[in-house]
Amino acid sequence: MEERGSLIKELDIKDYEAIYRIWNRIPGIGLSDADSKQSISSYLARNPNLSYVYLIDGRIVGTILCGHDGRRGYIHHACVLPKYQGKGIGKILVNKALDELKKQGINKCHLFALGDNELGKEFWSKVGWTKRNDIVTFSKNI
Ligand SMILES: CC(C)(COP(=O)(O)OP(=O)(O)OC[C@H]1O[C@@H](n2cnc3c(N)ncnc32)[C@H](O)[C@@H]1OP(=O)(O)O)[C@@H](O)C(=O)NCCC(=O)NCCS
Repeated sequence: MEERGSLIKELDIKDYEAIYRIWNRIPGIGLSDADSKQSISSYLARNPNLSYVYLIDGRIVGTILCGHDGRRGYIHHACVLPKYQGKGIGKILVNKALDELKKQGINKCHLFALGDNELGKEFWSKVGWTKRNDIVTFSKNI
């Protein structure tokens, strides 16, 4: 029987198909080859206890990927299905990931937001993050 009520739980690779469907339909989430099942599985194995899903009545309605490199934390794919936005779920997911990062000895976290993602940028400012104007991102395919 479907579990009733709200619940936050660690993201399990068994949830991959469900979370990929969510990522795929939410504007503001950029997907790439780094989001294949194999890559996400490897990410979760390297970063235990840091990525979460939020469930309502057994259905995933929000996700957050979080990891660190030993120095700094990084958040990806923080999202909540449109119907459930504005109810505090995004904030719960972010706070959970940050609490766990802190337990692992990491005291600063970064994230990348698409430049035209106004909703995302407003959210991060509202929940206490600082937009950096002193850094640009460089990338290279290898
Ligand atoms: C960004 C996102 C994850 C926020 O999740 P959410 O559950 O709607 O956010 P919450 O309800 O937890 O909001 C937390 C706070 O931010 C505020 N907030 C949320 N979205 C906001 C917005 N677009 N503009 C201004 N404030 C906003 C809320 O009012 C709330 O403030 P409060 O604590 O004073 O009440 C969600 O809107 C989303 O999935 N967006 C699309 C994907 C995306 O852009 N992700 C970010 C990628 S960088």
